[in-house]
Amino acid sequence: MTITHPVAQLTAEAYPKVKRNPDFKVLDSADLAYFRSILSNDEIINSQAPEELASFNQDWMKKYRGQSNLILLPNSTDKVSKIMKYCNDKKLAVVPQGGNTDLVGASVPVFDEIVLSLRNMNKVRDFDPVSGTFKCDAGVIMRDAHKFLHDHDHIFPLDLPSRNNCQVGGVVSTNAGGLNFLRYGSLHGNVLGLEVVLPNGEIISNINALRKDNTGYDLKQLFIGAEGTIGVITGVSIVAAAKPKALNAVFFGIEDFDTVQKLFVKAKSELSEILSAFEFMDRGSIECTIEYLTDLPFPLENQHNFYVLIETSGSNKRHDDEKLTAFLKDTIDSKLISEGMMAKDKADYDRLWTWRKSVPTACNSYGGMYKYDMSLQLKDLYSVSAAVTERLNAAGLIGDAPKPIVKSCGYGHVGDGNIHLNIAVREFTKQIEDLLEPFVYEYIASKKGSISAEHGIGFHKRGKLHYTRSDIEIRFMKDIKHHYDPNGILNPYKYI
Ligand code: MLT
Ligand code: ZN
Repeated sequence: MTITHPVAQLTAEAYPKVKRNPDFKVLDSADLAYFRSILSNDEIINSQAPEELASFNQDWMKKYRGQSNLILLPNSTDKVSKIMKYCNDKKLAVVPQGGNTDLVGASVPVFDEIVLSLRNMNKVRDFDPVSGTFKCDAGVIMRDAHKFLHDHDHIFPLDLPSRNNCQVGGVVSTNAGGLNFLRYGSLHGNVLGLEVVLPNGEIISNINALRKDNTGYDLKQLFIGAEGTIGVITGVSIVAAAKPKALNAVFFGIEDFDTVQKLFVKAKSELSEILSAFEFMDRGSIECTIEYLTDLPFPLENQHNFYVLIETSGSNKRHDDEKLTAFLKDTIDSKLISEGMMAKDKADYDRLWTWRKSVPTACNSYGGMYKYDMSLQLKDLYSVSAAVTERLNAAGLIGDAPKPIVKSCGYGHVGDGNIHLNIAVREFTKQIEDLLEPFVYEYIASKKGSISAEHGIGFHKRGKLHYTRSDIEIRFMKDIKHHYDPNGILNPYKYI
């Protein structure tokens, strides 16, 4: 039977070595009175609504749980500014929170920090169909940004499995990469401008930024991926891409990772300008997902060691379909792949993507998961998963039973050199954690990879930057944190 964890252990109890900063003030009735004076009732949640309060305290993976007694949900930048100024003056610690879908414990409190939710800042501000510039509040849900842009013949340049809940500002704060990074690139390139409230309440804005602007330091870049540690993103201006007129997808079964790489090279060369995603999943990922997606027939007849989902998007359906059909036929004739299935229509296309997008939720539903998100040279990409699996196997944790204690699931974005390794577990145990850490980080460091490709650092990887960054880089990061947030009130106990 699948064990679920409806409630995570309190982070403070699970990590007793992490101590509350005694310099931070404990919230009192005078603070509440101030917040009530600037916010309406629907912009404040406190212990009178315990269930709502609990949902802001716990992360999506149900791994981390804070003890905040106050959630502020301001509906304007001006109110965010007032809140930050007050908190900075009083030394009240604050955790900015978007859709709370982050995967490293970055968006929930550790102790009693106030949660500053951007949920009520949810308006599209402007869209220019000529340049494709889209401006919105930070709290706009990504699904809604996609819908708005879709209706205007454009697309948001990023897509994620969590699109129904994650918010634009949170995604930018995380610097998430997503499923189409291969085509549309990084948020460091797509974000044109940001509006940010600094810890002292000052508002710094270049939201009207131009596509090209080479005047001095590009300050907005600092806030992209800063996980709310140096400012609260309240508005985003981003370049939207034209909506593709033709979308297609094909799903392959493959026996080894060398062949996955060969297929990638072939796809780049033969699908070239229409290639928009190249995602892979291993056997464990799909076994977990089959267990989870009980009502959806699996697209292939047989089980394989690896699966690849290729997406194409272009402007001419006939042209793209011909290209993809020829590519599929050629890969089968040359015996590069064992089996493949091309989507016949939009419903098929959506179904194929469901197999890929459901992997994280399927792993989480197994009971819980230890989650790693790494960048490696493409030739080494899967080796980390193989090394971890061997280690868990040697400890007798991965058996042949239909539902073993631990399931190793490697999947991710081949085009970006990014593997997600989810160790799905029936329950979190010290034995499993000790087998995984620091082994995973040391392995990544030995291959000169990155311990975070796109999910960020948060609470999970605090103090682990040295596996990827040099001492001088970490020193500069600490200087930047101290410069913007001298009292250390923004998202404390995380990042650096
Ligand atoms: C993904 O690629 O599915 C996302 O990064 C989310 C995840 O790995 O959980
Ligand atoms: Zn990803």
